[in-house]
Amino acid sequence: MKRLELAVVGCGEIAGYAALVSKLIPQIRLAACCDVDSARAQAFARRHGIRQVFTDYADLLARGSFDSLYLAVPHDLHSPMILQALEAGKPVLVEKPLARSLPEGLEIVEMAARRGVKVGVNYQYRYDSGCYALARAVQSGSLGRVHSIRINVPWRRTQSYFDAAPWHKTLARSGGGTLLTQGSHFLDVALWALDELPVSAVGYTASPGFEVEVETLAHGILQTRGGTLVNIASTMVAAREQAVTIEVYGQTGTAIYHDLPFPSVKFVGARIKPQRPPGWGLHALQRSLAGFARWVLEDDPFLIPAASALPVLAAVDALYRAAQTGDITLAHNPFDEEKA
Ligand SMILES: NC(=O)c1ccc[n+]([C@@H]2O[C@H](COP(=O)([O-])OP(=O)(O)OC[C@H]3O[C@@H](n4cnc5c(N)ncnc54)[C@H](O)[C@@H]3O)[C@@H](O)[C@H]2O)c1
Repeated sequence: MKRLELAVVGCGEIAGYAALVSKLIPQIRLAACCDVDSARAQAFARRHGIRQVFTDYADLLARGSFDSLYLAVPHDLHSPMILQALEAGKPVLVEKPLARSLPEGLEIVEMAARRGVKVGVNYQYRYDSGCYALARAVQSGSLGRVHSIRINVPWRRTQSYFDAAPWHKTLARSGGGTLLTQGSHFLDVALWALDELPVSAVGYTASPGFEVEVETLAHGILQTRGGTLVNIASTMVAAREQAVTIEVYGQTGTAIYHDLPFPSVKFVGARIKPQRPPGWGLHALQRSLAGFARWVLEDDPFLIPAASALPVLAAVDALYRAAQTGDITLAHNPFDEEKA
């Protein structure tokens, strides 16, 4: 069997999970790792039996022996590291989001196409059994024309989330807060399912709970080119974390997704046999990593090529701009007059 020799860049939180999961994937071997924090890189290499250890990305690209890169670094490094990898001709699986902003994402996609090198994005919920079944039901037209989607992401992060990785606090390093970092997983699923670009947006952001630049709460509505309204509420300050839900309302049927206690989707008003995501695996992360390996090794279709992760960047950019440029304030509020 052909195996993908993978170099892990950024040996932090998610890379630890990816490394554990990759042990269950026969097509992947962890060949190298790299982190600016030398102790972290060494510990990661020991834990996962990795022989080549680097503390400098350029050095890894110049001297490392590997086929492809898995980038799990702060968001401001996604674009420059991917562009360097493309120059070196190395395929990349980058952690979500593709980049901090749409212009960065567009540059990556354009250069990947020009160089003919594969770039995938680990929006692994596309490989989640419930999200996949929901998306395929929408794509096949089984719910009829979809006019409304509502996404709720009621998650909780504690101070240790920002203390352990302070780059999450600043806009310059992260590009955004809960909408880009957490909500975009499910916004991506919705836009992938619809296969439509957003054309307009209204949105609000706020930062309750923490002394940080990024938003910890975001609400927004997008209108897609086909006229579907997509509503998202994303937060990291729920007192108790609750299930993520995606509700899809079509002309002839409804789909309701929950991620807890395990991923599931319920179809109402339409008889639909849920489709299973491609590849074997216990978890969406495992299927996504395996899917990337098969894409690079065998040219098997991967569910998340970089170009397909641009609509969600466009949507997040639009919602942030809407939140900044202001809303329609009622100049004349009848309730104030009643009180007076
Ligand atoms: N797919 C998911 O469900 C999921 C979950 C969590 C995080 N993520 C994504 O993974 C990425 C990393 O997030 P994290 O939570 O693991 O962050 P983290 O801060 O825990 O890890 C990032 C690592 O990158 C290292 N690093 C920083 N600069 C570097 C450089 N120049 N060269 C090499 N290493 C460098 C840091 O030292 C750190 O170890 C982000 O894109 C994040 O959004 C995805």
